[in-house]
Amino acid sequence: MIHLTVNGTDHALDIDPATPLLYALRDHLGLNGAKFGCGMGQCGACTVIVDNQPTFSCLTPVAALGQRAVRTIESLGTTDKPGRLQQAFIDHQAAQCGYCIAGMIMRAQSLLESNPHPTDAEILQHMEPNLCRCGTHMRILAAIRAASPAPTTSQAKPERKS
Ligand code: FES
Ligand code: FES
Repeated sequence: MIHLTVNGTDHALDIDPATPLLYALRDHLGLNGAKFGCGMGQCGACTVIVDNQPTFSCLTPVAALGQRAVRTIESLGTTDKPGRLQQAFIDHQAAQCGYCIAGMIMRAQSLLESNPHPTDAEILQHMEPNLCRCGTHMRILAAIRAASPAPTTSQAKPERKS
């Protein structure tokens, strides 16, 4: 039996320990936000947060998680009540086909939790592992920038441009 903590809820799943986390989320827990893109750690469509770190769920066997908590896009908000970052992606029309967006948002969420006022360079560096085949990267950048709370004067970084 595999025990997983996902979005604050404990689950016991009778699955192969080698099952990728992505499959457990989608096929066993009904959490379909994270997407299967490449299955090889090359696109980021499957990104979730594991103990505050953005993680490719396609490459993570459930047995490797141990006690670490998993968060998915479903933890951030709902269609009726999107979270701050989700709303920013909507406002900036960052989705074209939308396939990459859940992974993009979860990677960005991890950034803003550890660095609430990232510079554009920091955002670009952090988001580099996630790809958007539709090419909406500039809108994604704008959305993340907009979701970053305005820094106080003492927190302001000189290279940040709005
Ligand atoms: S599906 Fe996981 S990185 Fe592409
Ligand atoms: S919006 Fe289509 S892959 Fe990013």
